[in-house]
Amino acid sequence: MLVKIIDYDHLGRGIAKVENKVIFISKVKMGEEVSIDIVKDKKRYSIGKRCDTLKVKYCPYYQTCGGCQIGHLNYDEQLEFKKNAVKNIFSKYTNYNLDSLEIISTKCYNYRNKVTFHIKGDKLGYYEEETNNLIPIDKCNLLDSDIITLTASLNSFIKVHKKLTKAIIKSLDGRLMLILEGREDKESIKDFFSSTVSSLYYNNELISGVSSLTIDVLSKKFMVRKDSFFQVNKEGISLIYKEVINLVKELDCNIIYDLYCGTGTISLLVSDYAKKVIGIEVVEDAVRDAKSNAKLNNITNTEFYLGDVSKVIKRLDYTPDTIILDPPRSGLSKDLIEFLLSLKVKNIIYVSCNPLTLARDINLLDNEYELKSIKLVDEFPNTYHLESIALLKLRKKK
Ligand SMILES: C[S@@+](CC[C@H](N)C(=O)[O-])C[C@H]1O[C@@H](n2cnc3c(N)ncnc32)[C@H](O)[C@@H]1O
Repeated sequence: MLVKIIDYDHLGRGIAKVENKVIFISKVKMGEEVSIDIVKDKKRYSIGKRCDTLKVKYCPYYQTCGGCQIGHLNYDEQLEFKKNAVKNIFSKYTNYNLDSLEIISTKCYNYRNKVTFHIKGDKLGYYEEETNNLIPIDKCNLLDSDIITLTASLNSFIKVHKKLTKAIIKSLDGRLMLILEGREDKESIKDFFSSTVSSLYYNNELISGVSSLTIDVLSKKFMVRKDSFFQVNKEGISLIYKEVINLVKELDCNIIYDLYCGTGTISLLVSDYAKKVIGIEVVEDAVRDAKSNAKLNNITNTEFYLGDVSKVIKRLDYTPDTIILDPPRSGLSKDLIEFLLSLKVKNIIYVSCNPLTLARDINLLDNEYELKSIKLVDEFPNTYHLESIALLKLRKKK
């Protein structure tokens, strides 16, 4: 069936319409006329798949791999797509029209400092889009060059040692952590990799090198352990954190709550510009890392609490003037929204990796808080993902 692509959805899929039914098609371009097969037919919409072979310069696996969605658009088109996606979401779900929206670009390739590979026998790779079929990968150009080199070594290792099941690689400021799982002989793993990586784990055991690595971000040091969450694009996170720091400086903050604080990155980076910063996080190891990171940087005006944000915040005895939010993709809980509405804090800085939940939450907070600014950072080029930094201020009521 030949269709014309008339729009994109927020996941970067093209939209076509046939007899008033919407068809979503991955990896097509707006305006393109493309021949498709229908692979799923639902009552209200269909999923189509292009019939021809789509080639992009940077990746031979592009058409089948689930990692990238918009790498076939040139970079200006990608940025335009992301801005329009956020504008459309806001005009649908909020009272705000984001006419002049700024997006900060980052480098398109070799930006990822972490990767997870699945391994089956002598093949290593990613899963195909929407399935668990393994696509064997020799080289992924989104990964940083040290990870690409280690991927080549891993590929040669598994040609002989075929009992690994999973590999995670983290690359931080020129040092590598390799985390392997499987039923392979421990000594052969040690012999092969211990001279190449700074930290080597096998089935949760540290078998060579150091247990954690550190990364410098905006002149502060952060320890990254095997299971710690750390953003995957150093240039991208530096740009996001710089935006947050600039807002904090402008707002003249005294007491800040950093909710969903992870390993304390934002708390520690803004601590120079406030009297006190209090972080809340639900993962025990992350809270431990946040406290260690404060010591590592000789920072004494931060406190970190373990638990669910919406419960812990009610027990705290401070009067914050500013709240920084950096929730997971699901956004804020109803409970927390209600509490923020009653708290009537002066400023909210909302860092979001999901514009849909950001718009929903801004709408739910709208009675008390007004959106003052929003900026986008393209932390994940070639994918539909992006980060937003929004500033909300308490409405002045007569
Ligand atoms: C997007 S990450 C932000 C981490 C951190 N701000 C950073 O920049 O590295 C979201 C964090 O929220 C935490 N989290 C998720 N649900 C939570 C909850 N209900 N209460 C507290 N923390 C939560 C996750 O463990 C994760 O560390």
